[in-house]
Amino acid sequence: MTATILDGAKVAADIRRETAEAVAELALRGAVPGLSVILAGEDPASQVYVRSKEKGAREAGIRAETLRFPATVTEAMLLAEIGRLNADPEVDGILVQLPLPGGIGTSRILEAVDPAKDVDGFHPFNVGRLVQGKPAPVPCTPAGVMELLRRENVLLRGTRAVVLGRSDIVGKPMATLLTKADATVTVAHSKTRDLPALCREAELLVAAIGRPAFVTADFIREGAVVIDVGVNRIDTAAEVARCFPGDEAKAAAFAAKGSLLVGDVHPVDVRERASRYTPVPGGVGPLTIARLLANTVDLCRARRGR
Ligand code: GUN
Repeated sequence: MTATILDGAKVAADIRRETAEAVAELALRGAVPGLSVILAGEDPASQVYVRSKEKGAREAGIRAETLRFPATVTEAMLLAEIGRLNADPEVDGILVQLPLPGGIGTSRILEAVDPAKDVDGFHPFNVGRLVQGKPAPVPCTPAGVMELLRRENVLLRGTRAVVLGRSDIVGKPMATLLTKADATVTVAHSKTRDLPALCREAELLVAAIGRPAFVTADFIREGAVVIDVGVNRIDTAAEVARCFPGDEAKAAAFAAKGSLLVGDVHPVDVRERASRYTPVPGGVGPLTIARLLANTVDLCRARRGR
């Protein structure tokens, strides 16, 4: 089987256009949605993500700021900043980029964010509401995946789905949303016995385990829909040869840059076994940012009553 691509970049562009239209409408009613991003420390991937988030927000007409702190920032300083943002009527969404520097209590920080401004949906209040099926901001990556599946008419009702990974950011909310959409969901992880056999049962496989090209042909049911949430950097020739065998363009890119991006799913194997799949890059990544912008607008409307 030669799989076709689920075009996350295109769906993301659609969501961003719709969000920009919603922002323009809000402006006519005197409200400019505001997004504040807190970035602490020097994690290189986080620096890139946060720049993309701020740029995307500005392009949609959202007022966006990134508040940068050194890795030596204290928990008290971050809590003070969050308190200030909670009280600022112009701030609709607060995003604390993860991971935080060592020594900072991530839960204490996330729980300090006003749930009405919790644009990532990470506050336990909103996690609880999501699990109960009540309106709540939905974590951006799983929300983006659901949007892609909906707009690409992927059948979920009655479908056997496996979510590979159990993180608070992706795996857990992904399983909740798929269950709500009437899929039959199994959450698998690194300790699951005979992982390939379990994943091979899945008509829909969502890989969010954070290991480069971990999902190989033996994990993929013939004709499955495969969603790859992973973004991993590989930096050895052996890894490049394993992930992109015989691919001269990738070998040249690796020689020039010294590293390459690969998802959690083996990029060659998925094309041979799946029916539809999301590529890396250009699949889930753009959807995450698109949903962040949409969440900001949703929070603005809800909080300001517009
Ligand atoms: N780090 C990796 N993914 C995310 C995300 O979706 N939100 C935040 N805040 N941090 C992240």
